[in-house]
Amino acid sequence: MKPNHNENDTMTSAILVTGGAGYAGSHTVAALLERPDTDVDIVVVDNLSNAYRPEGQKKPEPLRIIEEMTEKTIHFYDIDIRDAAGLCRIFENHNIDCVIHFAALKAVAESVEKPLEYYQANITGTCTLFEVMRKYGVHKLVYSSSCTVYGEPERLPLDEGHPTGAGLTSPYGRSKYFCEEIMKDLCRSDPKWMVISLRYFNPVGAHPSGKIGEDPNGIPNNLMPYISQVAVGRLKELVVFGADYPTVDGTGVRDYIHVVDLAEGHVKAVKLFKQKGFSGFHAVNLGTGTGYSVLQLLSAFEKASGRKIPHRVAGRRAGDIAANVADPALAQRLLGWRAARGLADMCADTWRWQRTHPNGYRGE
Ligand code: UFG
Repeated sequence: MKPNHNENDTMTSAILVTGGAGYAGSHTVAALLERPDTDVDIVVVDNLSNAYRPEGQKKPEPLRIIEEMTEKTIHFYDIDIRDAAGLCRIFENHNIDCVIHFAALKAVAESVEKPLEYYQANITGTCTLFEVMRKYGVHKLVYSSSCTVYGEPERLPLDEGHPTGAGLTSPYGRSKYFCEEIMKDLCRSDPKWMVISLRYFNPVGAHPSGKIGEDPNGIPNNLMPYISQVAVGRLKELVVFGADYPTVDGTGVRDYIHVVDLAEGHVKAVKLFKQKGFSGFHAVNLGTGTGYSVLQLLSAFEKASGRKIPHRVAGRRAGDIAANVADPALAQRLLGWRAARGLADMCADTWRWQRTHPNGYRGE
């Protein structure tokens, strides 16, 4: 693929999005391309381990749809981020200015069964990417982190000053924590690095068009896709994991954040790199500051879908905490970002996607 050139015959600057065909990644690609002031190329690298590309098609389905929606081109590479030579080719072909790094494995329970696979993908992959970035003099990075780095909360809401790394229960969680520590060391080693580590709370929802959304492989582990698959008739009933927590109704409380708000948080983070004097490592929560219980989410979804969702209460799921809520103040101060979409939007948008795509991107 030839690099794009602008009128002055300089290469158009580009944002590299790793894992850009996945759930959070694809919504961020859409948010970047939907902005009228985006004049950068978007380059996606994804090994398709959790994304769908129909046979014979060049680009993964969510990216094809985003191209159609925005009438803009996305450069796509089917490459694993552990493939240093492959990554180098991308940096040779494009004028990469910054990287948004989503690519990772993310199933908590699976990570307990397959720790090496998780450390390989999430840590070796991340270090390989950083080495290639350094080689090509690219030091701007937005990292896809998780509130899981806080472990069992000592206090709520969780602010970024809360300790991290203690009491983590899965290799997945530890991989996110280790990567944050690696990025801190990188920033200490060279002031050129600018790193924004976005600690996601619980991303849910879908693009309001209903054309892109979450498409988990197999039976979903997370609450919202599970509920929406019950609503659409793909699964029989929701199993509520524990109703004896010290919460509003005994079920687990989480800070659900609309994936489009999450995506916009990344756009704001990229803009911060332009600020004079910005450097070093910054961890920032992306959450709303409001928690909802499993039963509250269930009831909001029933309202949005107009369907009754069969459910039963069972025992607690190992490793779960009672409640998790973000303090989103730093995101507002540093990024000028706050979540704009509430629980009703999250449910309505999830339902629009699920009802029109009962089997996700794969169709019937
Ligand atoms: N839940 C159910 N039934 C289900 C699925 C979930 O009752 O079938 C409950 C859980 O017990 C929890 C709540 O719904 O109380 C939310 O569970 P999710 O699995 O949707 O989300 P988690 O908060 O457990 O996990 C999320 C991310 C992880 C991340 C973690 C950090 O999915 O990647 O937050 O706290 F590590």
